Amino acid sequence: PTVYVINGPNLNLLGSREPERYGRATLADVEALCRTAGERHGFEIVFHQSNHEGELVSWIQEAGRAGATGIVLNAAAYTHTSVAILDAIAAIAVPVIEVHLTNIHAREPFRRTSYVSQVAKGVICGLGPQGYGLAIAGLAGLAGQETR
Ligand code: DQA
Repeated sequence: PTVYVINGPNLNLLGSREPERYGRATLADVEALCRTAGERHGFEIVFHQSNHEGELVSWIQEAGRAGATGIVLNAAAYTHTSVAILDAIAAIAVPVIEVHLTNIHAREPFRRTSYVSQVAKGVICGLGPQGYGLAIAGLAGLAGQETR
């Protein structure tokens, strides 16, 4: 069983990007956290980041074709703008857990609108990198997988 973890624009800069807001953990740290959580729950983790909207759409389609168990998606700024990502998620039969490091409801009003939330199975925000691990545990629970 495979879980895709897909990250959107500017998340490659984690660790140095507004550290007071996003923290000091790098994207490599987030990936390591995801791989540890994946091992715990028996998932192979496919981990991606792109600054390009269409690339995110293609990975969502790929997860659908591959019959992935789930997708953990931090679409970053595209969360608030991308009908293409909404449509890609709607087109596949794979549950998507939307994750944000920050609490998008406690920031600028434009961040309260999420196109991803329209089609997400669940949403985790405001808990920093551990939100990714919680999302992977959540997918394991949804899939009825055993935890070791
Ligand atoms: C983010 C929140 C978005 O509003 C922002 O554009 C990001 C990161 C988060 O993880 O908190 O780039 O998705």
